[in-house]
Amino acid sequence: MMNNSSSRRILITGGAGFIGSHVVRHFVTQYPNYHIYNLDALTYAGNLENLVDIESESNYTFLKADITSRELLGELFALHNFDSVIHLAAESHVDRSITDASDFIQTNVQGTVNLLDACKNKWKEDNSGKRFYHISTDEVYGSINEGKFNENSPYSPNSPYAASKAGSDHFVRAYHTTYGLPTVISNCSNNYGPYQFPEKFIPLCINNIIHQKALPVYGKGENIRDWLHVEDHVKAIDCIFHTGKIGETYCVGGDNELTNIELVKNLCELMDIMLDRRTGGSEQLITFVADRPGHDFRYAIDSRKLKNELGWKPENSFEKGIQATIQWYLENTMWLEHVTRGSYKDYYQRMYNEKDL
Ligand code: NAD
Ligand code: TYD
Repeated sequence: MMNNSSSRRILITGGAGFIGSHVVRHFVTQYPNYHIYNLDALTYAGNLENLVDIESESNYTFLKADITSRELLGELFALHNFDSVIHLAAESHVDRSITDASDFIQTNVQGTVNLLDACKNKWKEDNSGKRFYHISTDEVYGSINEGKFNENSPYSPNSPYAASKAGSDHFVRAYHTTYGLPTVISNCSNNYGPYQFPEKFIPLCINNIIHQKALPVYGKGENIRDWLHVEDHVKAIDCIFHTGKIGETYCVGGDNELTNIELVKNLCELMDIMLDRRTGGSEQLITFVADRPGHDFRYAIDSRKLKNELGWKPENSFEKGIQATIQWYLENTMWLEHVTRGSYKDYYQRMYNEKDL
C-alpha cells in the first residue's frame, strides 16, 4: 500500500481526454502534495478546455507530447523524475479502429511499450515506491451472452480497438513478469459523464437530441453495455493506484446493464422533459442503421475482487448519473460545439453519411 500523504510526481497520460481529465482534476484537487504532469498529444479527442478550472494550480503541469515518440519520453522522464504513471492515453473509439487500425497499433501498443521502457530504464536502480498503472477496458474479454467477465476470463478481443488494448495489457503484464516492473492493470466497463467526446453513443445521442437530428442505432439496438459513471471510475482508479497489489488486475463495472435501445429511449424521455418538448418527440429521431461489423453483443463485468479486497463501490445510481450528465451537456453546449467542429465533423461526413450530424 502507498502512503498518500507523502509527495509524489505522477505522470498521467491522456489527461486532456474524457476519463483522463476527470482523473487529473481529482488528483490535482485531492492531493495537493502530489505534482501531476498531464502528458497528452491533443489528438481530435484531447481538449484542454476540459481542465480550465485547474490549469493554474501550482501542483499541475501540462506536457504536450506523443507517447509514440520514445526519445521524447526518455527526455521527459530524465527531466521530471516521475515516480508513478497512470496511463490512459489511447485511441479509444471502436468505429475508428474498424476504419483504420494503424493509429491504434501505434498509440495503444507501441506507445504503451515506449512508456514501459521509459519506466524500466529510469527506475532500474530503484523500483521501490514506483508504480505503472495501466487503464484498460472490459472489451479485451470479447462478448459474453451469460454471466460476467472477471480477472480470470480469457482474452478474446473482437474489434481492432479491443485487440490493441489487449496487446497493451499483455505487454504491461510481461514487463512485470520479465523485468519486475511494478505494474497494476484495471479493466473497466463503458463510462459516461461530462466531457465525453460526442462520437461515443451517449453524448452523440444527447447532442443529436438537442439539435433534433437522427439518433443512429446499430442493428436492432439489442446489444448490451454495462454503464458506469466516470466519477465512480475515477474513485476506483484512486483506490487501485493507492492500494492495489503490484502485478494484479482489477475489473471495474457498474452493475448497470442496458440494451442500446433502452438507453436511447431513456435519453429521449428525459430530454423531452428537460427541454420542455412534446412527450415522445425525441423518440421519433431514432433511426436504425447498418450494424457495426463484429459488434460485441454484451459486456458485463464482475467487480467483486475490487469491492471485497479494496473496498470500492460505485456511488452514482444510473438514474441520477444520467440526469446530471444530460444537464451538464445542456449547460455546456459551447463545449459540444467546439469539439464537434473540425476533424470530428469531417470524419463523420466521410464515414457515416446516414448519421446526419
Ligand atoms: P479519449 O479518446 O476521450 O481520450 C484519449 C486521450 O489520449 C486524448 O486526450 C488524446 O489526445 C490522448 N492521446 C491519444 N493518442 C495519444 C498519443 N499518441 N500520445 C499522447 N496522448 C494521446 O479516451 P477515454 O474514453 O477518456 O479513455 C481513456 C482510457 O480509458 C483509454 O485507455 C481507454 O481504452 C480506457 N477506457 C475507456 C472507457 C470508456 O468507456 N471511455 C472504458 C474503459 C477503459
Ligand atoms: P460506443 O459508445 O462506441 O462504446 P463501445 O463500442 O466501446 O461499447 O458504443 C456503445 C454502444 O452503442 C455499442 O453497442 C455501439 C452502439 N452505438 C450505436 O448504436 N450507434 C452509434 O452511433 C454508436 C457510436 C454506438
